[in-house]
Amino acid sequence: MSTTSTLRRMANVNGEITPLEDARISILDRGFLYGDSVYEVFRTYEGVPLFCHEHFDRMENSAKLIAMKISQSREELLEEMRRTAAAANVVAGQDIYVRWHVTRGSGALDLIPAADLPTSFVIILKEVPKWNPEFYSRGMRLAVTEVRRNPVEALSPDIKSGNYLNNILGVSEAIRTGADDCLMLNPSGQVTEASNSNVFFVIGGRLVTPNVESGVLRGITKRAIAQLGAEQGFPLDDRPVDANELEQATECFVTSATREVMPVVSLRLGDGRWHEFPPGGGEVTRRVAHAYKRHVNRYVADHQSLRLIA
Ligand SMILES: Cc1ncc(COP(=O)(O)O)c(C=O)c1O
Repeated sequence: MSTTSTLRRMANVNGEITPLEDARISILDRGFLYGDSVYEVFRTYEGVPLFCHEHFDRMENSAKLIAMKISQSREELLEEMRRTAAAANVVAGQDIYVRWHVTRGSGALDLIPAADLPTSFVIILKEVPKWNPEFYSRGMRLAVTEVRRNPVEALSPDIKSGNYLNNILGVSEAIRTGADDCLMLNPSGQVTEASNSNVFFVIGGRLVTPNVESGVLRGITKRAIAQLGAEQGFPLDDRPVDANELEQATECFVTSATREVMPVVSLRLGDGRWHEFPPGGGEVTRRVAHAYKRHVNRYVADHQSLRLIA
């Protein structure tokens, strides 16, 4: 939209709204000290936050998995997002990226959190990221890395926490091998996900994605695709995917709130060989991408009341 030029990147730290670069948190904040926080990201379409309540549900699930009680209600956080959007000069219908963290709060320099700490929140509001257009016209390159995904039993990837070191190590290794992103395996050699997206394959003509038990985030885009698949004739096999199956894959794509459906054109296998996929995505990938766009349009039409700016 042409209106994006007026947008000012803003942050909201516990109710204090400032330009992004001026925002400050305490050095005693447990999110900063220990990654003791949970977060979410959504983007808006024509001003409507996509899958708004699903993101809050997932944040509540992440908080539950780390025994964090969020002090701020969903309504309070949404209201703070609206105030931040107004300060950022967002105009009706303009698309934005919203990221919000809830940390276990600030307290003593101690791993053990005090039971009564109120949680802190940070909202970051900026323009929707613009991915390299080649990632859509041709596709991304993924590399299977030596870095393994955190085991579910240690720090479950299903917790969307503020600690992304595992993912940073994965993507950094992938870039060193000439890829754009990583495809991490779990300690048993099964496929998990990329650094910040879920991954899908077509194997034996079926659409397949690693399940949560393999060690992936419960992606909200992935969930929408599973629903669409069931309705539209490409049922999704949500199951463990062994790394040995990758050579049989004929298509591959990744999904996330900001990437939507992004094709993968090459995959560097664990032994260094590159496995190729159709540039721009194969037939299933293109069908899924179109179905997802239609689904987003329907959601936007049905959820006008969620608009962040009236
Ligand atoms: C590790 C990881 N996996 C998957 C995803 C995709 O999730 P969603 O579709 O909800 O954006 C993300 C997105 O943030 C992520 O960080």
